[in-house]
Amino acid sequence: MAVTIIVGSQWGDEGKGKIVDLLSENVDIVARYQGGPNAGHTVVFDGQEIVLHQIPSGILRPHTVCIIGNGVVVDPVALLEEIKFVTGKGIDITGRLFISERTHIITSYHRLLDKLQEAADGAQKIGTTGRGIGPAYVDKVDRCGIRFIDLLDFSVLKEKLTKNITEINTILDAVYKVDKFNIDQVVQELYDLGTYYKQFLAETSVYLYRAIKTGKEIVFEGAQGTLLDVDFGTYPYVTSSSPIAGGACCGLGVGPKSIDKVIGIVKAYSTRVGMGPFPTEFDEDFSTRVRSLGKEFGATTGRPRRCGWFDAVVVNHSVRVNGLTHFAVTKLDVLDTLDELKICTAYKKGDQVIDYFPADLKTLGAIEPVYETLPGWKTATSSIKNYRDLPENAIRYLNRISELTDVGIEIVSVGQDRKQTIILS
Ligand code: IMP
Ligand code: MG
Repeated sequence: MAVTIIVGSQWGDEGKGKIVDLLSENVDIVARYQGGPNAGHTVVFDGQEIVLHQIPSGILRPHTVCIIGNGVVVDPVALLEEIKFVTGKGIDITGRLFISERTHIITSYHRLLDKLQEAADGAQKIGTTGRGIGPAYVDKVDRCGIRFIDLLDFSVLKEKLTKNITEINTILDAVYKVDKFNIDQVVQELYDLGTYYKQFLAETSVYLYRAIKTGKEIVFEGAQGTLLDVDFGTYPYVTSSSPIAGGACCGLGVGPKSIDKVIGIVKAYSTRVGMGPFPTEFDEDFSTRVRSLGKEFGATTGRPRRCGWFDAVVVNHSVRVNGLTHFAVTKLDVLDTLDELKICTAYKKGDQVIDYFPADLKTLGAIEPVYETLPGWKTATSSIKNYRDLPENAIRYLNRISELTDVGIEIVSVGQDRKQTIILS
């Protein structure tokens, strides 16, 4: 029995949803540790594409318990919609979904502030998903956030919201010149939501502690990816939480010694949504081609994703900061028709070779990727079931990724369906 963390090794959208859903077949609990409705985990279920934003992907397996941890920020209005959507698909969530009492909530003022701040930043904007993620985490760290537990006590909720909204209304009026919030209305809306959410609230750290002690099979599911991490990503073009493996401990209240395995999900190429550095980005024509092959459009916002070559500098950064023990390589089939493939092995700045991911945006803007070129396989891979049946050049490509990073590949995904997966043991 084991505790496994699933992390995104690039800029998110590596296909974590599919891998978590796949692993859930043999898993008792899936727990999400950070992010919020900015995430979009696409899973194919009963032949239909389902996009989950806040509910862990394990919900699609009838025996799996799903936990939303304290490190997540939840939009209770959007989650209600998602619960309705999932139950509408015939999925029974009774007794299977728990939310930490400590989880912070995203309110209407966080959503509004996210959009106003991005609009005001113009060319310098981050390109956020506009879901209120940043402002909700700001309040958490600023110690004025609203937690699920607060929704259960009318007077506590009223006191906190009165203080917060009074301050925000001043800013809305003076800086943004938009309508102010009605405090009583927000208090009542959130209190009513609390009445509904009471059934899901639990001390999830205690629940997990007991589950680990009794040897349950558990997956900790991250959202976004390492290069969007607030510490180790392309700051400030990052999300406001810690998608890296360490985030699982803080975001769920578990100790590091209970983790047995850290699987890094790596896409066979690279993508990112939003602004910020992307060293191996394709030119616009090639980006358009790969985007359509890989259906690379944001699952949350529908925005076209920027596409590029596999970057071993990025993935090695991920191997290090997450302590990755295994890889799951996804979307290999998207590369089936390419004549040749490039892998970035290092960066160059003038004569200087840089073999780690730089912190400085100016350096990132000045570097040139150093590429190795490998032949394509020009063969359809999406119905291949065994590793040894993959085309020789595909195996060569995968081996090179493993060699450059010193991490073994455990899973190769060659299509969206659960069946389109090659498991290596
Ligand atoms: P925020 O998380 O909405 O604040 O957005 C910050 C940055 O993270 C933006 O570049 C977003 O496009 C990016 N981002 C947030 N969530 C995801 C995700 O699930 N996949 C990919 N990019 C994301
Ligand atoms: Mg996604």
